[in-house]
Amino acid sequence: MANRSIVSIANYSREKLQNLLDMAGEFEKCPNRDILKGKVVATLFFEPSTRTRLSFETAANRLGARVIGFADPKATSSTKGETLKDTIKMVSNYADVIVMRHKLEGAAQYASEVTDVPIINAGDGSNLHPSQTMLDLYSIYKTQGTLENLKIYMVGDLKYGRTVHSLLMTMRKYNPEFHFIAPKELEMPEEYKEYCVKNGIKYVEQTDFTEDTIADADILYMTRVQRERFTDLMEYERVKDAYILRADMLGKCKPNMKILHPLPRVNEIEYAVDDSKHAYYFEQAHNGLFAREALICDVLGITLEDIKNDKTVIL
Ligand code: CP
Repeated sequence: MANRSIVSIANYSREKLQNLLDMAGEFEKCPNRDILKGKVVATLFFEPSTRTRLSFETAANRLGARVIGFADPKATSSTKGETLKDTIKMVSNYADVIVMRHKLEGAAQYASEVTDVPIINAGDGSNLHPSQTMLDLYSIYKTQGTLENLKIYMVGDLKYGRTVHSLLMTMRKYNPEFHFIAPKELEMPEEYKEYCVKNGIKYVEQTDFTEDTIADADILYMTRVQRERFTDLMEYERVKDAYILRADMLGKCKPNMKILHPLPRVNEIEYAVDDSKHAYYFEQAHNGLFAREALICDVLGITLEDIKNDKTVIL
């Protein structure tokens, strides 16, 4: 079988993305099955995680697979000097799928080149986070009824935020209009702006973040300022509270507008916003379960048809 790793989904066709969305929809209808009975999923988290690791593990468990792995690399032989290559080769002896988060950009690509076992990139440094993008697409599709022609406002740490990088690249097929709202220190990196230009993606950069400047958004994608990526913590202190979404800023929003956030939240969305009909970030995280069920099946060669015909559903 060809290596079906998911390092990035930015180059997936519309058909492929729709197929994955439909798979996620099937799993939302029936999340509990035995379709992966006998399979082993390894989760290797070299960086901290709550949602990504637990939702991948829940996805595997709910589909009947068994899970091995680690949440803290300090408990592994990497502390004795074992290389990433050797770790991946070892785990490939045990597991059918490897889900990996690593602090180094390009680590997932590298891992996919040293094994035939499919790798799913669960975040590589400030580069990409394709499974988050899949659940973001699913959340947008569910709440807007379409992925086409949407105005997507990305707010906060657009420099280090791998979720916004992944999302903007994958959305290019759907004629989006992006608004990048960030302090100068955390603005969208040049390479992604060049990507927008090259691919005909409309974008506007702004620094104002007010009731009026977000009134036209379909999706307000808030992000956390990523303390762990800063080399200068004084700079982090300067920018960490640059943009805070308050409930009183939602008065002019479009009725369909939804607030997304990959989470964890630190201080960028005040708690009062949670009660707004526009808040969708907790449902978004729940959607991660269905999206990740779809991704695990996809790398194992299980198709939408297989899932529709699946007789292992547990009601
Ligand atoms: N959204 C996300 O990646 O969350 P975790 O870091 O908790 O996995």
